[in-house]
Formats: sequence, structure tokens, C-alpha cells
Amino acid sequence: MSRSFYIKTMGCQMNEYDSDCLARSLITKGCIPVNDPAIADIILINTCAVRAKPEQKAVSFLGRMAAFKNKRPDLILGIVGCIAQQEGSRLIKRFPMLDLVMGPRQLEKFPEFLEKIIYDGKKIVATDLNSLPASPIHCKGYFRDKVSAFISVTEGCNNFCSYCIVPYVRGREVSRPPADIIAEASNLIADGVKEITLLGQNVISYHWNDCNFVSLLNEIAGLDGLLRIRFTTSHPKHLSKDVIQCFASIDKLCSHIHLPFQAGSDAILKSMRRGYSRDQYIILSEKLREADHDIAITSDVMVGFPGESEADFEQTLDLIRKVRFDNLFSFKYSDRKGTLAAKMQNKVSESLKIHRLEVLQKIQRQITLEKNQDLIGRHVQVLVEGQSKKGGQLTGRTSTNKIVNFISNNKKIGELVNVLIDSCTSNSLSG
Ligand code: SAH
Ligand code: SF4
Ligand code: F3S
Repeated sequence: MSRSFYIKTMGCQMNEYDSDCLARSLITKGCIPVNDPAIADIILINTCAVRAKPEQKAVSFLGRMAAFKNKRPDLILGIVGCIAQQEGSRLIKRFPMLDLVMGPRQLEKFPEFLEKIIYDGKKIVATDLNSLPASPIHCKGYFRDKVSAFISVTEGCNNFCSYCIVPYVRGREVSRPPADIIAEASNLIADGVKEITLLGQNVISYHWNDCNFVSLLNEIAGLDGLLRIRFTTSHPKHLSKDVIQCFASIDKLCSHIHLPFQAGSDAILKSMRRGYSRDQYIILSEKLREADHDIAITSDVMVGFPGESEADFEQTLDLIRKVRFDNLFSFKYSDRKGTLAAKMQNKVSESLKIHRLEVLQKIQRQITLEKNQDLIGRHVQVLVEGQSKKGGQLTGRTSTNKIVNFISNNKKIGELVNVLIDSCTSNSLSG
């Protein structure tokens, strides 16, 4: 099946991982990746439904791809991922040029679906959420040029935070068997990967029989040839003493945790059904810094959740000032069909959400800048990932996940080097 393919990936790291899995199964079938959808025989759009904005982006991209299909009826056009799961056959009705609508729990059947489309001229809608996550096809050499790669260890989520669509589009939480994960990690390392990030919506609640997240982390850290290990995303409700202790005891574990707090007011946290208080979150951040003094803490936060008063918003700003995050991903709340929050009263106006987001981002930008400035004049260890966009420089990340661009005479891609930091912005460090 010598066809060319193009995959557009939107949304979170899970989707990046899923797109790599799709690419690997296409390559195994003899297909060739291309960088331009205009020349591709197969176009897949891997979509995200978490907020209104990514959803709009996906639909507008699909419109552009549909124009190619008008000119080239043989083109195979598929929408996969979380919007595919959410909308199912409604998408085919709305966009009859689609050949495939496939949710994130159906990836294993993709080769079979593709054959039905090509050889039987069928249209496929696949949105069963009950299938177990499969191990991706190993495609030797796929990660040859990459220093860092993801492995999904849990799929789905059971938390049902009141604003969130993820449990509806990714299904209930299931863990993958440790042996499959170790085999996948070993294959990546054999390909030359030096840093592995374990993925899950709620990654620290991983468990398979008597193997919990801490045992899994230790097993992977024990693999020869691997330099660094990371994991994301952690839920504050599940962050145990044992997991915090890993930052002190596992050398290869990077000094970084992504720990979404979402809101700083107890009333809003309760209404979000997050299962912790602002004080509990602050205590967790202190315990993390006790275990690993230099740990970088990043987070997600939302403004304008239904009922968020000025006082609630002030509590969010106060938490940001107290914890001093290294970086923050901040979003305007948006209604997601079928969630509890979508049905709540007291919606916050769009203009107030925009205003609150600006205020919050300005405060965080300053904190991020100050944290980066603290590193000027110090040596940091960088895992070199490749050439920087700036000519002649290399780029990589610190253990704390900060981007470093630096001058070097040697090509040290895939190696750990010490870099003396001499300047910074809020986005990156230079040395
Ligand atoms: N599993 C992760 C988050 C996945 S979604 C966790 O539990 O933290 C990524 C981020 O999108 C969330 O952390 C949240 O900040 C944001 N988000 C989710 N639903 C949203 C909504 N309806 N409106 C705005 N932001 C939302
Ligand atoms: Fe969504 Fe909450 Fe699950 Fe994260 S923990 S994916 S925010 S429901
Ligand atoms: Fe988006 Fe699905 Fe990830 S909704 S954030 S792509 S799990």
C-alpha cells in the first residue's frame, strides 16, 4: 500500500502519542509521511474537544482539507481523536466527504478500517469506548532522530471534574500492563531515545495488579541507556508521599511536575469537583520542594468558571503568588456539552473572562521571568535535542523543563551538557 500520508495533530500530548501510533502503523503498511497535505493520499486530523477554541480550529482545518477531496476524490480523509469520539456519525452527516471518524480508543483497529475504506469503499464510524488500550506497533527507526518520546501508561479518566469533557471522550481509566510499557520503552531506547515521558490524564493513579506508579517509575528508571524520565499529568488528589519521595530518590526523574490546580478558591474548587482545597494544594507544593529543592512546578488554571466572583479570582491570584509556578497554562472556561458545569447558572461574561486572563497572565509572566533570571550566572544541565531556530546554536531542556539555546562547537545531540546561563526571557534561557 504505497500511499503518502499527512497527520495534523491538535490537543494534548496524548494526541501527539496517538498520532505517532497511527503514523507507525501506516509506515509499517508501506505508506510514506509527507509534510504537505496538498500532496498526501491519506489525511488524518487528530482533534481535541477540551475547549471551544481547539474545536473551532479542527472544524476550520477540516473545511480546508475537504477542498482537496473535491479535486482528488481518491483522497482518504479521516477525523480521529476526541471530536471524532464526541460527534461520531453526526460528523459524516455534516461532512459527507469524510471516510473515517475514529475515537481515541479505536486506534488498534485502524489498519483494518483503512483496508475497508480502500478496498471496499466503505465509510467507517468507530466510537466504542470500551476497548482496552493497545500497544503501538513497533516501527524500528521511527524515533531515530528524536531524543525524547512519550509512552501512554493510562488511558481515560474517572474523575469527572464538572467542566471537563475528557472522561466522555476518552472513556474510563485503564492502565496498560507493565510488561508492554517496559517493552515499548526498551524499543524506544534501542532507537536512540534518551528521555521518556509517561503519559496519562491522571498518570500517578496507574496500577496493574501489584505494580503501582512508583514501581513502574523505578522499573523504567532502571533501563540502561535512558538518561531522563518525566511524567504528566498528575492530579493533586492522588499525589501521595511515595510519589513525592521519588523526586528525591530516583536520579533519572526530572525535577519537574505538572500539577494542575485550576482555581484558588475553595468554593470554585468544590464546584469543579476537584477533591482538594487551596491549602492542601499549597502544602503539596511545599512538600515537593522539601523533597527536591529545585523542582519546577507548572500548572493549569482556568478563569471565569461559572459563579467565579471577584473574590474567588483574587484567591486564584493569591495562590499563584504564594506557590510561584515556573510556568502556567491558563485558559478561559468554556462550556462543554453534557458536562455539569455547562448546566450551571451564573456564567461569567466573555469580556470579564478576557480581562481576568490578561491580569493573571501578566502576573505569571513576571514570576516566570524572575525564576529564569535566578538562573543567570549558574550552570544548568541540558539534554541536547537539536539545532536551535537561531542559526548556529543548539537547543535542549533543563531537568526543570526550561528551554535553553546555547552556542557550541560540537554537535552533542542526545547528550547531557552543562551550560552557563547568561541571559533569558520569560520563554527561554540562553547560554
Ligand atoms: N488531566 C488533566 C487535564 C486535562 S485537560 C488534569 O486533570 O489536570 C487540560 C486542561 O484544560 C485542564 O487542566 C484545564 O485547565 C483545561 N480545561 C479543561 N476543560 C476546560 C473547559 N471546559 N474550559 C476551559 N478549560 C478547560
Ligand atoms: Fe478532566 Fe478532571 Fe479528568 Fe483532568 S482529572 S481529565 S480535568 S476530568
Ligand atoms: Fe483534548 Fe482529548 Fe487531550 S479533549 S486535551 S485531545 S484528551
